[in-house]
Amino acid sequence: MQLNIAVLGGDGIGPEVVAQSIKCLRSVEETFGHSFTFRKELVGAAAIKATGDPLPERTLQTCKDSDAILFGAIGSPEFDSDPKAKVWPEQGLLRLRKELGLFANIRPVKVFPTLVKQSPLAKKIVQHTDLVIYRELSGGIYYGHKSINEDNNSATDTCTYTESEISRITHLAFKAAKARRKKLTLVDKANVLETSRLWRRTVYTIAESYPEVTLDSLFIDNAAVQMILNPSQFDVILTDIMFGDILSDQGSVIAGSIGLLPSASVGADYAMFEPIHGSYPDAKDKNIANPVASILSTAMLLQHFKMQEESDAVVAAVLKSFSKKIVTPDIMGSSKYGTNYVGDFIADNIMELD
Ligand code: NAI
Ligand code: MG
Repeated sequence: MQLNIAVLGGDGIGPEVVAQSIKCLRSVEETFGHSFTFRKELVGAAAIKATGDPLPERTLQTCKDSDAILFGAIGSPEFDSDPKAKVWPEQGLLRLRKELGLFANIRPVKVFPTLVKQSPLAKKIVQHTDLVIYRELSGGIYYGHKSINEDNNSATDTCTYTESEISRITHLAFKAAKARRKKLTLVDKANVLETSRLWRRTVYTIAESYPEVTLDSLFIDNAAVQMILNPSQFDVILTDIMFGDILSDQGSVIAGSIGLLPSASVGADYAMFEPIHGSYPDAKDKNIANPVASILSTAMLLQHFKMQEESDAVVAAVLKSFSKKIVTPDIMGSSKYGTNYVGDFIADNIMELD
């Protein structure tokens, strides 16, 4: 298969982890006889420094001209600590998702048997965790009208959802549940928020078209507790942009490190693959960042393009790195392996499976 891939490394550890993903895709290309091209573009703080814009037109155009996008992370402390900044890196990612119509952020949380002791939670709690969060990505409080009134020291963020925004991700989540353990949990705050009440009405109506899937719902506060007490009760979780952001970071505690969790952001026309973590600025250029979240995002990319065998081969190579303890220091604390070494090991171990 021929694929054109836009590569947006971004800031902090983003470029380092994405470089490992490219190695792995090169290895897939060679092993399975595909043809992948990579075009690197700027985004985030790096793009602001070079052009003044966190999402330069050229970057957006390259993404639109590509079959898929590999994204690292954006964010830099110099912007985080300047509340008066007019532009900041995160605007680049939000605009990119909007421009490409990426409305569903799919975030699997799985505990790998070899890493079961990495979680600070007890083995008996985390060991059977295999859930996936369908996080709405195009609406809600991140995108609603925002304002700040310096005269009376007040600020506003607006949370708006339309039925059609809820409906399109709900169908994806039900289809995913149908292909998995047939359970869907809607997470909201319907006891307080009008938007959540619209979510409930819409999701319960759509549920009638998926009679084989069991639907239940939890308030976000209870869902956060349930996820730590008994994560294996969940199959597919469907939720909005902010609840999904927080719940998936929490999921990384179950998996053992945020450096392990991948994601896919999909829409009708485009798909982007990115780790769930941020730019971890303290680790930039130190060769300590875990590349696995980014590498597993490439496994999601391959699966998206129906290259299941290739995707399985990437996951198998990652599992081999765990069983050989070729891991970065966030896993198995005493490990001395660096980002590049782990990336090389995984890329070198991608092979056709029997
Ligand atoms: P972060 O995810 O960058 O880092 C939080 C902690 O997670 C780190 O201190 C580290 O202990 C761990 N961590 C993250 N990635 C890791 C990796 N690959 N390997 C090992 N450990 C890892 O989140 P933080 O510190 O809240 O934000 C830093 C910057 O990233 C901010 O500017 C923020 O806005 C941005 N950000 C960007 C995101 C994106 O690009 N999608 C998502 C979240 C935050
Ligand atoms: Mg987050």
